[in-house]
Amino acid sequence: MTQIAINKDATDFGEFRNYTDSKHQERVERTYREMQTNQTLDFVTQNKTKYFKLEHGKMDVYQVFKLLEEVVDESDPDSDLPQIIHAYQSAESICDFAMNGEIELRDDLEIRPLFKDNIWNNLPKKWRDLYSANTIKTLYHSIKDWSWFPLLGFIHDLGKVMLLPKFGKLPQWAVVGDTYPVAAPFASSNVFFAKNYYQDSPDFKIYDTQTETTFGNYPKNCGFDNIHMTWGHDEYVYEAMRQGSTICEEGLYLLRYHSFYPWHTPQTGVMAYTELASDYDWLMLPLLKAFQKADLYSKSPDLPPLNELEAKYKKLLDKFIPQKQINW
Ligand SMILES: [Fe+2]
Ligand SMILES: [Fe+2]
Repeated sequence: MTQIAINKDATDFGEFRNYTDSKHQERVERTYREMQTNQTLDFVTQNKTKYFKLEHGKMDVYQVFKLLEEVVDESDPDSDLPQIIHAYQSAESICDFAMNGEIELRDDLEIRPLFKDNIWNNLPKKWRDLYSANTIKTLYHSIKDWSWFPLLGFIHDLGKVMLLPKFGKLPQWAVVGDTYPVAAPFASSNVFFAKNYYQDSPDFKIYDTQTETTFGNYPKNCGFDNIHMTWGHDEYVYEAMRQGSTICEEGLYLLRYHSFYPWHTPQTGVMAYTELASDYDWLMLPLLKAFQKADLYSKSPDLPPLNELEAKYKKLLDKFIPQKQINW
């Protein structure tokens, strides 16, 4: 049986997301520089028009993974692992810390430890009180079947196929890395903010404004579903799964915003883009944090043999994508 070799470079939270002196510093910084100068509102809307047609082929998830095997995410300072290993690790990490069997969530999944102290202390009181009074299970009590949660770990990065020729061969800066709202003031919690790359974007002078009721191009607190985020793998896999799977609304939300680090897990300790968040976004924040924890910590745990993993996740895929082949 195959045992997967694990990257033990980074074994605790503090060693992940190093954007100052990782061994991949040059390519990481280049990816973000190009992203922050080239991700304009026009660029985003053009790609949505193109990719949301899902005209790049009909295939099942395992076929897509086969294609991704050669892909390296050049924005990632922590890992050179093939995408499929990261997918299994994320999925298994969710099983380990969140699940009680195949369907149920653990009762003891507290919300408070998902937040660093400084972020927790600065949350709006209304939301901190709600999070304090709940576990993940009680906060999302309407969800009875959680079996989609590990599956999300497995599929969340599939949108990276956009790097491949068959899927448009987009550059790294249009596929990977943290996401953030376009056509809005650029927040200081974005990585490489101090380098001022964002000021070279043609959009910078147009949308770097806010009033009492607006933030850039948007009404305040309109909700993330009503703005345009930078174009990347989150939005693409969200749309493919929205159209092709029976994953619930909460699960789709996690796919769509898992890379929105300046909001859910800012390096600076200051949550950004609260001006655009709706009550729904605040409600979803603890779940997004729980998912993010699995996505990040997953870059190091040991895994069961590959054949066991494949059987387990094929079963879950059959449950949520019964037609197997979906449009991409
Ligand atoms: Fe991702
Ligand atoms: Fe990921």
